[in-house]
Amino acid sequence: MTLAKSILEHSIPLLDCGEKIRFLDPAFGTGVFYSALLNATGSDSILSAQGFEVDPCYGEAAKELWKETLLNLKILDFTKLSPPKRQSDCFNLIICNPPYVRHHHIESEEKINLRYLSSKACESKISGLAGLYCHFLCLSHPWMQRGGVAAWLIPSEFMDVNYGKAIKQYLLQKVTLIQIHRFDYEDTKFDDALVSSAVVWIRNSLPPPNHKVLFTFGESMHSPNMSRLVNLPCLKDEPKWTRFPSLGIREKAENHCLSDLFEIKRGIATGDNKFFILTKEKTEHYSLPDEFLRPILPSPRYILANEIQADQEGLPILEHQLFLLDCRIPEEVIRAKYPSLWKYLKSGKGTTSERYLCRTRKTWYFQEKRLPAPIICTYLGRKKGGNERAFRFILNSSKAVAPNVYLLLYPRDTLKYYLSRDPNQIRRIWEILNALEPTSILEEGRVYGGGLHKIEPKELGNVNATRIVNAIPSYAKISKETQHSLFE
Ligand SMILES: C[S@@+](CC[C@H](N)C(=O)[O-])C[C@H]1O[C@@H](n2cnc3c(N)ncnc32)[C@H](O)[C@@H]1O
Repeated sequence: MTLAKSILEHSIPLLDCGEKIRFLDPAFGTGVFYSALLNATGSDSILSAQGFEVDPCYGEAAKELWKETLLNLKILDFTKLSPPKRQSDCFNLIICNPPYVRHHHIESEEKINLRYLSSKACESKISGLAGLYCHFLCLSHPWMQRGGVAAWLIPSEFMDVNYGKAIKQYLLQKVTLIQIHRFDYEDTKFDDALVSSAVVWIRNSLPPPNHKVLFTFGESMHSPNMSRLVNLPCLKDEPKWTRFPSLGIREKAENHCLSDLFEIKRGIATGDNKFFILTKEKTEHYSLPDEFLRPILPSPRYILANEIQADQEGLPILEHQLFLLDCRIPEEVIRAKYPSLWKYLKSGKGTTSERYLCRTRKTWYFQEKRLPAPIICTYLGRKKGGNERAFRFILNSSKAVAPNVYLLLYPRDTLKYYLSRDPNQIRRIWEILNALEPTSILEEGRVYGGGLHKIEPKELGNVNATRIVNAIPSYAKISKETQHSLFE
């Protein structure tokens, strides 16, 4: 059964029995949903059918294809249209797979306009980071008949990320969120392999008392592998909706989280790794002064073990030894005192110096200040199955700093204090981190199509750290307030 057919077969029964259909697809393409509608109901049940398509190639082809039917297809940009003024001109069945254009590919003026119109249409403040699919969803709201139903085939990203908050607020407050079906990410529904998809069903009416939303997951929406009903108030409090249906409602215990113990930062973004990160041979070839070279870790694929040991000088014992050119003195001083470094920097002028990060710095070659972190974490990875982990915590005993393919965990003052008394505790903590239930970390991050997981510093900070706190008895005994007062 095709996806469009399944979506239509799932949506039509949500309408009142015998209700004539007023169909709208605002991103019509060639009309797979319209085709599925005709197959599912026959034209007798359809009162009207409206489509919008911005691309004349698709639009003309679709017009030709459906010319014998009652379809009214307009080759127009849906986002620029005014919704119908009268209820009787609105639609009771909107089915759409909107264009998925990321926010940074939307022209800034257009984005301002879209944000204004979408926020007004759904009465929720839409973020500048929202993709075009979010605007389609919001802008369609005034096109829906009261009590009408819509099904949106969209990326599931909104369920977990910050820009999704306003969309979720709309789904919870302005309409009745009926169901969200998420497809198995192994089975991505979009050509773009980085997108995992969901179908969201809504009804244009306020949610009835005690309403529960059905979350389903699996290849088929008719017989999902998993399903769970979740109360609206729980959804309001839960920032990560992709935990449903496989996981339940989060316990609200007074737990510790990783950000209580660690300050979590992203590794160094050099602006041009090829220029600023060099092998030992290259630093010698260019005679770069040692005082401006800091050891830096290579990417995780070169770090096979989860522990980095150090030699007597603190250099990481690794096959791939790399150095960051980290010089924070002005050009005039470099020119006068360090001719070889001056020559090297000159070779990056006009190329590296013009790259985005470099040209927006005070001085193009100044690097971010970061100290070596005792624990680092890979933040992008695939979980290939079983108990395999998408993210690895690596114990770093060297004085190497880390690039931005890692998150860096710096102990906060209280933890630092305990570690100064018993340096072995850091190993203990690292062991616990790597033994945490993988889902307890994954559920804080986000997942893209093809099973690519990603976790941001703030999200890693939300991971429950109660096991760590309980494993350090002297730490656990002291309440949070007392911990702070130790250093005041
Ligand atoms: C993901 S495709 C959906 C395809 C469609 N379901 C079909 O049957 O072919 C999105 C469609 O929206 C169209 N589109 C993009 N921006 C649009 C806009 N602003 N207004 C109307 N259509 C738009 C694209 O040209 C594309 O055909």
